[in-house]
Amino acid sequence: MTADLPIREDFGVGYVDVAGVGYVLPDGRELFNDVSFRVGEGAKVALVGPNGAGKTTLLRMVAGDLPVVSGAVARAGGLGVMRQFIGMIGDDTPLRELALSLAPPPLRAAGERLAAAEAAVHEDPSDRKQIAYANALAAWGEAGGYDAEVLFDTVATLVLGKPWDEVRERPVRTLSGGQQKRFALELLLRGTDEVLLLDEPDNFLDVPGKRWLEERLRESTKSVLYVSHDRELLANTADRVVAVEGAARGCTRAASPPGTRRASRGTTSWRSGGAAGTRSTRSCAS
Ligand SMILES: Nc1ncnc2c1ncn2[C@@H]1O[C@H](COP(=O)(O)OP(=O)(O)OP(=O)(O)O)[C@@H](O)[C@H]1O
Ligand SMILES: [Mg+2]
Repeated sequence: MTADLPIREDFGVGYVDVAGVGYVLPDGRELFNDVSFRVGEGAKVALVGPNGAGKTTLLRMVAGDLPVVSGAVARAGGLGVMRQFIGMIGDDTPLRELALSLAPPPLRAAGERLAAAEAAVHEDPSDRKQIAYANALAAWGEAGGYDAEVLFDTVATLVLGKPWDEVRERPVRTLSGGQQKRFALELLLRGTDEVLLLDEPDNFLDVPGKRWLEERLRESTKSVLYVSHDRELLANTADRVVAVEGAARGCTRAASPPGTRRASRGTTSWRSGGAAGTRSTRSCAS
């Protein structure tokens, strides 16, 4: 049975502690087990490994999207999450919805309430709907909505060269993959959350975009856990590399290539589980 509260949240500082965490797939195959690492305050920790090794699964456990059945995840600070699919959004979601989905939960809730009240008042401009709209507007302000609009405007101008009012209803699918990533990254890196989980943030970015991301990660005071396959980005940004290795592969180190600006301080590896029921975790020393 799942532990009652495997994820603990404290506020004021930003860190992530992963202790002895494992994950078993629905078909009984063990994806990984006994994974432990810490993302200390302000640290930049990278998760690496081949396709299918379990990096996204591990991030989703840290984010609270998936239950932590074995081991424990402790987290402190506001959490901002950029999921792997950003860059590939192909539906009619407007930019305003993407921006809200990346905002802290109280702001997100106030924004959703405001959007619903706004739609209702357009359909039926009765006194009751007008009052509901005025209340939703006041709640938006109290939740920090006006500061958020300044941030959205800054990011829209940086990424799309247009003010927020002009692009807020634009479908996200009309942005290129790199623009979708950049939009989400600018919001999270400029936002208030102390801890960021970024699943392949560099995917879709062109070379200047990758250099920009490296600089922003290096100068950020946030605690960041991120997945990347780009060795140069890892070498230039990661304080520590955590390698989740595929079952068929050996336990290889994700070392920094020589000559890069900043070597990673350490690598810790876990080997994913193979056949159902095996416990093949192998720690390859840092
Ligand atoms: N609900 C599920 N049922 C069956 N298999 C699953 C399920 N969820 C995840 N998996 C499998 O778990 C493995 C790990 O997936 P995950 O997305 O975590 O990999 P990843 O390391 O992020 O890979 P990539 O580098 O391609 O993004 C994959 O083999 C995937 O097919
Ligand atoms: Mg993934």
